[in-house]
Amino acid sequence: MDKQEEKAAERFTASGFILSAIGSSVGLGNMWKFPYITGKYGGAAFFLLFICCLVVVGLPVLLAEMAIGRGGRGSASKAFYQLSGSRFWSAFGLFSVLTAFLIMAYYAVVAGWTLHYMAESFTGLLFRGNPDFKQKFVSFASGYWPLLWQAVIMLACGAVIAKGVAGGIERFNKVLIPGFLIILVVLMIRSLTLRGAGEGVSFFLRPDFSRLNAESALVALGHAFFSLSLGMGCMLTYGSYVRKEQSLGRASMAIGAGDLLYAFIAGLVIFPTVFSFGLEPGEGVGLAFMALPAAFSQMPLGFLFGGLFFALLAIAAFTSAISILEVPVAYAMGQWGWSRRRASWIVSAVCFLVGVPAALSVGGPLASWSIGGKTYFDLFDFVTSYIMMPLGGLFVTLFAGYVWRGAGREAGLTGGWLFVWIWLLRLVVPILIVLVFLYTTGLIRV
Ligand code: PHE
Repeated sequence: MDKQEEKAAERFTASGFILSAIGSSVGLGNMWKFPYITGKYGGAAFFLLFICCLVVVGLPVLLAEMAIGRGGRGSASKAFYQLSGSRFWSAFGLFSVLTAFLIMAYYAVVAGWTLHYMAESFTGLLFRGNPDFKQKFVSFASGYWPLLWQAVIMLACGAVIAKGVAGGIERFNKVLIPGFLIILVVLMIRSLTLRGAGEGVSFFLRPDFSRLNAESALVALGHAFFSLSLGMGCMLTYGSYVRKEQSLGRASMAIGAGDLLYAFIAGLVIFPTVFSFGLEPGEGVGLAFMALPAAFSQMPLGFLFGGLFFALLAIAAFTSAISILEVPVAYAMGQWGWSRRRASWIVSAVCFLVGVPAALSVGGPLASWSIGGKTYFDLFDFVTSYIMMPLGGLFVTLFAGYVWRGAGREAGLTGGWLFVWIWLLRLVVPILIVLVFLYTTGLIRV
């Protein structure tokens, strides 16, 4: 490859970028958290609130992250340095690289579970014998199988990333993200035609403005942030591969709309199914690995629909995981001069090792290790999503708002839009991030 070709291989096409960024943003958060919090905090009223948070907080920060990446043309740490000339800011960039690395270590564990459940559902093994799905999950998670699936995920992510931006990341997202939508729609039709589906739809979407309060606002804000993969250098790193001609403003709107669309349809898959089988609408692990399998086990062709559902979770997790792993890989390439291949394999291997104790602490041999009442796995989750991500988001916001003068130009904003964006970044967003941070870490109660 000559220099010119090498450069082209490290750039996204316009649509490839949007699909890859949607791939990053559509993750387990859309599939197992968004529907639940929407149902819990006010249905359609919460949904509207979430859209407001996405527009007022999510999109400005998303635009800032992508602009920093493209303006500084480098990995999280290098981009901050190029734009400010200060080691202080490049240290903050390094902080996001570390966040991404740690998140990847345990995200791969959960992504691995989805693969296992997909395989077990398609083969029907999941539905044989004891119908206690809670117990089934516990016995699976406490064994050594999760390590194998975690390794599969790390290998797959490493392999995609080793192929580069155009030949790997973009190519996979261009197939997986539209494929995801097709499976999602198939499952939506299945679930909306179940008996009693209407009750689930109304739990999800009946607007109840009386349930909106400070807590629901903070939950909506935090989720808007998480859902757009902000605060850990993902969108920054993807932004560094965007061509100069592409409008970042339009791209952010497309990414936000895509994220919402997938979350919305996921709600229309989950609630009708849960209600139709008289299950408790929960979130997270309990919903995906314990409640829904019970529903699939009673449905005609349940192994197929269950398999498709877990395939969706696996794709959601995989396309997000790719974007997370790319952050430390890009760093190793930019900072240490490693080739893409070498960086991909070495980072994946180290990340796997760091994730092993997380995999073994969910009921497994390390379950009794705890620090402050949290297992190793919970600790990873808590420290990264509740402490490191909001801090990362805050740095990005302050950097684009106060430090880097060229932010508006790179973001393609002028006049009134520029004014609104800068003031959101300078004042509104930092205050909101701090409030969410205080709330999620339990430092304030509302
Ligand atoms: N946005 C993903 C989701 O909604 C999670 C994620 C966070 C992915 C941070 C990448 C980076 O589940």
